[in-house]
Amino acid sequence: MREAVQKTEMTECADNAGLKFPTIRDIDLEGKTVLLRADLNVPKHNSQITDHTRIDRLKPTIDDLRKQHAKIVVISHFGRPDGDRNPQMSLAFLAPVLEKRWNCPVSFAPDCIGENTKEMISRLTASQVILLENVRFYKEEEQNDPEFTQKLASLGDIFVNDAFSASHRAHASTTGLAEILPAVAGLLMEEELKALSAALVAPEKPVIAFTGGSKISTKLRVLNYLVAKVDFLVLGGAMANTFLFAQGINVGQSMCEKNMESEAKAILENAAKSGCEIILPRDLVAAKELKENGEHIIVDAHSIPATHSAIDIGPKSIDYIREKLALCKTVIWNGPLGVFEIKPFDNGTNSVALAVAQRTKAGQCISVAGGGDTIAALENAGAADDFTYISTAGGAFLEWLEGRKLPGVQALLK
Ligand code: ADP
Ligand code: 3PG
Ligand code: MG
Repeated sequence: MREAVQKTEMTECADNAGLKFPTIRDIDLEGKTVLLRADLNVPKHNSQITDHTRIDRLKPTIDDLRKQHAKIVVISHFGRPDGDRNPQMSLAFLAPVLEKRWNCPVSFAPDCIGENTKEMISRLTASQVILLENVRFYKEEEQNDPEFTQKLASLGDIFVNDAFSASHRAHASTTGLAEILPAVAGLLMEEELKALSAALVAPEKPVIAFTGGSKISTKLRVLNYLVAKVDFLVLGGAMANTFLFAQGINVGQSMCEKNMESEAKAILENAAKSGCEIILPRDLVAAKELKENGEHIIVDAHSIPATHSAIDIGPKSIDYIREKLALCKTVIWNGPLGVFEIKPFDNGTNSVALAVAQRTKAGQCISVAGGGDTIAALENAGAADDFTYISTAGGAFLEWLEGRKLPGVQALLK
């Protein structure tokens, strides 16, 4: 017989779970020009896309819109160009990739607004797709500037938000457009909210959460929530370096947000109060230079040489994490535990990911992971297919977990 399990109370998520909004199935799109907000912020390394999940998971929406004979204008951001037209962050490279993955022609407009873009869109025929240049090349996007939003809105008839992973941002292309145009959700948005709710509204205890990666300050706030709700919080990647630094440890050349020291300390205190064990690396893989199969050493977490950066968790850390993982019924994961793009610094992430995959396959836990780079890391480990659910969202996934109302989702409820 199955043992009785305790449920945690992540009740705030119920708000997000019970959301009712129209989708592309509820609206007549025949011949309409649809502005489709997608998240094509795909992970890249050495100019190569390391994972296509964010593209592939949009295909059902593209197929449905094409079946309905809509003209499809894809709007996305890529990276954080801060309002500059940075060629490194152009979306032009993606048009041929989308053509292949979506199995249809995709043209490219070198600007996301303006007369030339309008002209290109006016030439679209039913079921054709055009991708617009990085919407963050305009600082007005992140400012949710009304004039800029109007310029975007003038390009189409209907707004479809299928970018759950960017819906924690109140930007022109996520919330602004929904306020001006008739707005509905895409199929990926719908799938994400349903699947996350089903798996995580009342997770079985004990719960273990993994956070790592490099977007430290944007994710740190959520950890205060997580320590109150989970039994173990594993910190890896550059996130862990910030906590080691807050504990007075010299982190050498490691990536670390030193100005987050007091926030990190407060999280450690809150964890102690709520009985959540914070698992920081006990040992680390450190290197002077980050290169494929480059020289590296394993050091105690207290002894990172001043000349080195901590780039992965070490073997003692992996063993300890595995021990705790074996106790848990639910796993939540955002952020790789090391620089997984460069071998062998994927070892920490791989070892733990495979352990999670194995436990999930054996029916011993539910596992949910999210984040552009996290998916790439789990794919690299050969573990992604065995997770219970993989979300395309990183920061948005964490904010959803926190029970925050995501502005991009809320805007669809009007
Ligand atoms: P996600 O996209 O899954 O939300 P992030 O964008 O926050 O994750 O972080 C992913 C990045 O973090 C990866 O590119 C990885 O190389 C980097 N990273 C992981 N560990 C470290 C580390 N110790 N030092 C520097 N960068 C790291
Ligand atoms: C992500 O990769 O999590 C999303 O594309 C959002 O990106 P942002 O954190 O730069 O808003
Ligand atoms: Mg990322």
